[in-house]
Amino acid sequence: QAQKLTSELSGSRVAPPYAKLIANLDKVRAITNNTPLTLAEKILYSHLCDPEESLTSSNLHDIRGLQYLKLNPDRVAMQDASAQMALLQFMTTGLPETSVPASIHCDHLIVGKDGETKDLASSIATNKEVFDFLQSCADKYGIQFWGPGSGIIHQIVLENFSAPGLMMLGTDSHTPNAGGLGAIAIGVGGADAVDALTGTPWELKAPKVLGIKLTGRMHDWTSPKDVITKLAGVLTVRGGTGYIVEYFGEGVESLSCTGMATICNMGAEIGATTSTFPYQQAHARYLQATGRAELAKLADNAARNHNFLSADQGAQYDKVIEINLSELEPHVNGPFTPDLSTPISEYGPKTLKENWPQKISAGLIGSCTNSSYQDMTRAADLVRQASSAGLKPRIPFFVTPGSEQIRATLERDGLIKTFEDNGAIVLANACGPCIGQWDRQDVNKTSSEENSIFTSFNRNFKARNDGNRNTMNFLTSPEMVTAMIYSGDAQFNPMLDSIKLEDGTDFTFKPPKGVELPQRGFLSGRQEFYPPQNPSPDATVEVRVSPTSDRLQLLEPFKPWNGQELKTNVLLKVEGKCTTDHISAAGVWLKYKGHLENISYNTLIGAQNKETGEVNKAYDFDGAAYGIPELMMKWKQEKRPWTVVAEHNYGEGSAREHAALSPKFLGGEIILVKSFARIHETNLKKQGMLPLTFANESDYDLISSGDVLETSGLKELVAKDGDNGGELDVTVTKPSGESFNIKTKHTMSKDQVAFFKAGSAINYIGEISRA
Ligand code: F3S
Repeated sequence: QAQKLTSELSGSRVAPPYAKLIANLDKVRAITNNTPLTLAEKILYSHLCDPEESLTSSNLHDIRGLQYLKLNPDRVAMQDASAQMALLQFMTTGLPETSVPASIHCDHLIVGKDGETKDLASSIATNKEVFDFLQSCADKYGIQFWGPGSGIIHQIVLENFSAPGLMMLGTDSHTPNAGGLGAIAIGVGGADAVDALTGTPWELKAPKVLGIKLTGRMHDWTSPKDVITKLAGVLTVRGGTGYIVEYFGEGVESLSCTGMATICNMGAEIGATTSTFPYQQAHARYLQATGRAELAKLADNAARNHNFLSADQGAQYDKVIEINLSELEPHVNGPFTPDLSTPISEYGPKTLKENWPQKISAGLIGSCTNSSYQDMTRAADLVRQASSAGLKPRIPFFVTPGSEQIRATLERDGLIKTFEDNGAIVLANACGPCIGQWDRQDVNKTSSEENSIFTSFNRNFKARNDGNRNTMNFLTSPEMVTAMIYSGDAQFNPMLDSIKLEDGTDFTFKPPKGVELPQRGFLSGRQEFYPPQNPSPDATVEVRVSPTSDRLQLLEPFKPWNGQELKTNVLLKVEGKCTTDHISAAGVWLKYKGHLENISYNTLIGAQNKETGEVNKAYDFDGAAYGIPELMMKWKQEKRPWTVVAEHNYGEGSAREHAALSPKFLGGEIILVKSFARIHETNLKKQGMLPLTFANESDYDLISSGDVLETSGLKELVAKDGDNGGELDVTVTKPSGESFNIKTKHTMSKDQVAFFKAGSAINYIGEISRA
């Protein structure tokens, strides 16, 4: 019967290998004596390379959070900024093609300013060299190339590749968006992507599973975004670390597939490994609407006849949180952190108390998080209500469609016209303002005056959108953003308050009404944005990288470990939050993603020096002040390896692997912190760095810049292949000569020790493929 599951869909839009996965799951059930499994475990463990080798205990609770799993992902997706480094690394392996289907998406490098036509033309001109490089890699290695203007990676993945039960990797932290369609989709750095692209088993520590029980029903103003903005407030940016978040409960039935994707997308903001939903009729409807009726049938079969696509009765979660959708209120999260969550009814008073701006200066909807047909029809409904009353937006309003398919469908159904007739600027199908590519005209980048914007995006670190550190980005639903553009006043609660019309009467919004999926189906739009379905590799294609380019640079392998204990100087002690945006800033630096040396001059420029309170300042032994990357470069040239010391959740926020590559390139050897964000810690190991955490957090206070840190026991740790984590002694020597020992912890697996020894994961993969 399982064999019947294997029929393939047309082109690259293949179904997950259900028959193989279900057969693997049967092995897992035998090992675990039919212990009830969560959905996350079913999908993950059915992708194990070898269940017998990986599952050392019949009790899966014994391995959660502890044991490394070796997995075979089904596919890889890469966005243009991170794809450059992923492909530069893939090239060094010398393989002729990728082992699994892969796609490249040109979305991050597109500016948002004047609207699609002008912005696309100028962005293509500015980034031609990079797009040509990506296209040539795609042609050479048989990767699907989605060019500029085709859409945002996560929206295209949802429309084309995600599927219930699929497991995929993406070189972007919001890859979990695909979990909205029942996949396990994990955000990784380029080096992890290269594992999957080369057919090397991909390692992940068995996650714990956090169950979110949704009760009640979505209603009126509440949108799926509010589920995750509320949850971020409950869990904080660290609360999901080490977990896969799995939703269940009758409330799920009131969500659309794209709404589930919004919720999974922002699971990245609570630090979760990924998020997923059980198979629903909403999934079948979305698959049918996006031309995958055959896949819907296969998924139906896998769910009904093989109990594959939802949790077993009695499955145990490590933790359960309940959210009643019937009582859920729209939330507004920010500024500067996605977990500062405020119900809309309390937002106005809070702005007064916190002294946040009273004028909202711009509203932006769309992005990978919120540009579904349902989101846009609900937003357009509010625009029509306001327009019928004669209201015009009081602040600039931008709309970013997530893909050509959604844009073309919105255009056919009159929604683009509705937005544009009411003053909105419709930007290209790309990331634009969500990733610092917002060439903002109304507020100067260097303005010291604080300003507030409302967005339906997912992330709101300082300077994220317009490069201005004083712009406060409040994350909320597209509905709240849209209503807010007609008031622009922080005290306005769209659910309750009215706006005075010119004739003196009061206008109050009615709750927005939208449509889950277009009645006339999706329109694919302009065919020039679509790549061939089944690209084949072509060894004759030459991938050119000019030696004089300032955008692209071929990689030199990092040196292998010399077999000795590490002895380093503390170059910087970081205070407080240190996200990947602090470690490897985006915005203008995105330009140098393919040029390791050039981009490394952004390393830690957003970090605050604990000892002086200054941002991007570090001090040499003689007291001379330097920018942080400049001092790193100086010490690299002086052959003085260094350590950075920091606090909690270091590397929070994204899969940005330059945050690991650049420190290694600049001569860093150890990052010693109170705790790490998971992806970043893995990325450091992949680049041959030694990530350590304080066994005793208060030891952070004992260390100063200029101290010498020397490991003791590293050789033994390497000799016993890391042992899946343990302690490592470090001797701290002060400039005065005073010296003491501290205990640190590492989480190195056997393979990660091999990366460390080889100098990087890529070196190691190269060694294996040459052997
Ligand atoms: Fe792009 Fe922003 Fe999403 S950068 S991928 S739209 S989070």
